[in-house]
Amino acid sequence: MIRTAALNGATHDAERKILDDIEHQFQLGQDALIKITEQFLEDFRLGLGDYNHPMAMIPTFVTGVPDGTETGTFLALDLGGTNLRVCEVTLLGNHDFRLRQQKYKVSEALKTGEATVLFDYLADSVDAFLTEFSSATGSPVSTSVANPFDSPTEVPLGLTFSFPVEQTALNEGKILTWTKGFAAKNAIGNDVVRLLQDAFDRKHLHVRCVALVNDTVGTLLSRAYTAGSCLLGGIFGTGTNGAFVEQVSNITKLGNSPARTKGGVMIVNTEWGAFNNTRTTLPTTPYDNKLDRESINPRKQAFEKFISGMYLGEITRNILLSLIDASPRPLLFDGSSSAPLNTHYGLDTAIISEVEYAWESGRGDEVAPQKSSGSKPNWQSAHFTDVDALSPQDIARLERIRDILIQRLQLAPENVTLRDAAIVRWAASLVANRAARLSATAIAAVLVQTSHAKLGGGTPEPKENIVVGVDGSLIQHYPNFQTRLRASLQSLVGEAVEKRVEIDLAKDGSGAGAALCALQAIKQGL
Ligand code: GLC
Repeated sequence: MIRTAALNGATHDAERKILDDIEHQFQLGQDALIKITEQFLEDFRLGLGDYNHPMAMIPTFVTGVPDGTETGTFLALDLGGTNLRVCEVTLLGNHDFRLRQQKYKVSEALKTGEATVLFDYLADSVDAFLTEFSSATGSPVSTSVANPFDSPTEVPLGLTFSFPVEQTALNEGKILTWTKGFAAKNAIGNDVVRLLQDAFDRKHLHVRCVALVNDTVGTLLSRAYTAGSCLLGGIFGTGTNGAFVEQVSNITKLGNSPARTKGGVMIVNTEWGAFNNTRTTLPTTPYDNKLDRESINPRKQAFEKFISGMYLGEITRNILLSLIDASPRPLLFDGSSSAPLNTHYGLDTAIISEVEYAWESGRGDEVAPQKSSGSKPNWQSAHFTDVDALSPQDIARLERIRDILIQRLQLAPENVTLRDAAIVRWAASLVANRAARLSATAIAAVLVQTSHAKLGGGTPEPKENIVVGVDGSLIQHYPNFQTRLRASLQSLVGEAVEKRVEIDLAKDGSGAGAALCALQAIKQGL
């Protein structure tokens, strides 16, 4: 029998107020969204002019986008998402590519130990991949592009390195800082291509790292390859970031260098995850502050900590803990907790995604909610307290969520009511909704920066679609993330522009992007 805590009178009001207060802290109205986008534009401008601004606006030295006719076979190594991936990418020349890949785990010890050990592991993974593929196909990975290296058997590799790197050329760049839980020692300030190449050389691998690319740039290039053009590559996954095609004349920090005087365009990696590191723009809750304080990089990646997959579960965990501990009476799970809930990062974003999925997939809009006497429950947008007023369909959805909570959070069944299930779903949706709305401000800022839109709307409908390539677990799997993002985007740039923004998944974009960069590098004789 499921406990259904009935709430009445004063208790009801006091508890409702606690929940309402939390809800209020997570809401971002239209004015707030506009203000945030304006600050984004200001930070873009400052970052384009200054190498030391928190919004890094990194020039990538990629001065064009592919058109889909490029061909060749390359190795790609991708570090910075959930897994390390080694891929063999074949660009087919018809807007399509073929990719074979192997994923490898990166342990916490590797993430936080000595950098040489991490890079040795990368080299070992490439070695393992080559051995496996050579034996599987009978021939090692090769390139169809004329190989400019001394040894004809050297395999060119593009590295997707999804951390802030101050690039000085296509195949050169200093690591600025680690993000997303990495903290390997003696890496910051070093050239990441050198670190990797040294590891290949230590192991006598005939592989040459010819190009370095951020995952956002890879996503942009790969979407341009398949779609024919692309303005912005965005990652909404473990971390969040965007890269876009900028006029070189706007990248004032390049001064009078040849890269600038040549004119034209260059892809800029914004590193927008660091937006609001000054903590002056985003309305911040105690749950965010706790997350930041306990993180490996306090006061860094402030925007990312509101948005990305690494953190949404943790913010939600912080809310749930405050409700378990609420005084004078617990508001959740009868005041009990569990090992996952008591563990730092113990509530994976995948779990809140499952909770929201269980709610959304059982919505059954054709079924009218069962009317009960009295006022309608406030369950559509928020928490609710009146379980008795729910339709059988809604009860079924909450029962599914309750099962997920019992299993995934190891909670004792007798401590989880349907009302608890509703409250967890509500908390998840607050956190994810805020993330999606903030993501829209970043995209809107790029559209305005590149003169595709005006803030507040009023731009006539563009003649051509504006292509945005995206990748990452959040945008791929989190229920309604894109729908929520698009609604906010529309409110920022107007319907005429928003409906022309084509947001599509650049699946395996990091791999294909690294291959496209490697091709570029070989053409430039690097
Ligand atoms: C972090 C990294 C950034 C990367 C993003 C998405 O924000 O700093 O370089 O693009 O995560 O993976």
